[in-house]
Amino acid sequence: MNRQTRATLGGKLSAVLVAAGSSVGLGNIWRFPYVAGDNGGGAFLLIYILCVLLLGLPIMTGEFIVGRSTHRNAVGAYRTLSPRWTLLGYNGVLAAFLILGFYFVVSGWTLEYMIHSLTGELAHYSTAGEYTALFDTFVRNPWRPVLYTTLFVLLTHVIIALGVEKGIERSAKVLMPLLLAILVVLSVHSLLMPGGGEGLRFFFKPDFSAVTPRTVLVALGQAFFSLSIGIGTMVTYASYFKADTNLRHTALSVTLLDSLVAILAGVVIFPAVFSVGIAPESGPSLVFITLPGIFNTMPLSMVWSSIFFLLLVVAALTSTISLHEVLTVYFSEEWHLSRRAAAWTTTLSTAVLAALASLSLGALGGYPIFGKNLFDGLDFLTANILLPLGGLATSLFVGWHLDKRVIRREMTNDGSLRFRIFGLFLFLLRYVCPAVLCLIFLDNLGLLKVFFT
Ligand code: TRP
Repeated sequence: MNRQTRATLGGKLSAVLVAAGSSVGLGNIWRFPYVAGDNGGGAFLLIYILCVLLLGLPIMTGEFIVGRSTHRNAVGAYRTLSPRWTLLGYNGVLAAFLILGFYFVVSGWTLEYMIHSLTGELAHYSTAGEYTALFDTFVRNPWRPVLYTTLFVLLTHVIIALGVEKGIERSAKVLMPLLLAILVVLSVHSLLMPGGGEGLRFFFKPDFSAVTPRTVLVALGQAFFSLSIGIGTMVTYASYFKADTNLRHTALSVTLLDSLVAILAGVVIFPAVFSVGIAPESGPSLVFITLPGIFNTMPLSMVWSSIFFLLLVVAALTSTISLHEVLTVYFSEEWHLSRRAAAWTTTLSTAVLAALASLSLGALGGYPIFGKNLFDGLDFLTANILLPLGGLATSLFVGWHLDKRVIRREMTNDGSLRFRIFGLFLFLLRYVCPAVLCLIFLDNLGLLKVFFT
């Protein structure tokens, strides 16, 4: 497909909004609080922020360069630049498929919670124990979560079918600012809850005694997951950027916005967790138990709850769209399918995987793979292995292999912008990212102990 017939995104703001739409999602509001809670809070937050700035930002910029310089899907982009690196594109396509497998399930939960808020059903409960029981009964039910997951897959399909400009761009423009506004309201409310101070201390006060190599890997995986990097999503989106989009500013804005939402989510969740008396290490159910508890203490609780879950559905949707788009544009450009057929191929295959992942939490729970159910396995494999591996390969590719002239041209928009920190950018991609990523991997495999004991 040539450049002229491919879609492009509108003004300056839409590149940021669309990329932020992909980044900001359940990763920030559902996954971040639960892994931060699982990994000790404050110290995790600090390591997370370091990962975002030192590794996330340069790698996102690198993906933008690859995408906009080729105007291709993730696989096609790497093949165009260097056939030997095509594998990196395939890693992305595979990871996008596997992420959707569990992401659609959680998205389905948000849809269910939204509907139960609208009907007032959620207001029938009040204690943390009741919310925990409600959540458990729901996810273990053999057909309801599958139904909601399927509905969510179809919702994503409809927007993808509308195309890049109409579907993706428009939905991101309105809904992102709205989400931010409601998070601010909720965080103020949460801070005022009795006993909330302890939650803030947990979230902001680093306790390094609890930090293990696994904590660092999980923080890194969470950073990549939240920023949507490592698997070519940003390559795909940047392939729609215009020639005058400032890649550096776009990457910086997206990164800051994404971190802001994650931290706000922490400020909403942790005071409430401590105030209501829930264990911060409750795992994937954390926000689904905590949030209804917060709303319960507010006047007009079901109104707030409905709006919040609606926004969560939307945040999830702008992220599932980006993952779906990676697969759809891959099938259409590489397998030469029509966009319609490509979208259906993606929709049907991911729906089957997501249904299995959903059932693995209940009806099929008796068939673990490597000791984990399918849902947890997909989450762990993608965030902690495939994304960091993809990030490592991306930094090596852009830092060492890609022609410097391409990098310079993309970063300066063909000479019209200045790029004073070119040296620093290249240094981060060439040395810092690969070194840190390799160390974290080795450390987790237990190989570094040999040298330090
Ligand atoms: N970043 C999204 C979130 O935080 C999820 C997501 C969308 C993603 N596209 C991705 C994660 C690509 C990894 C890679 O919810």
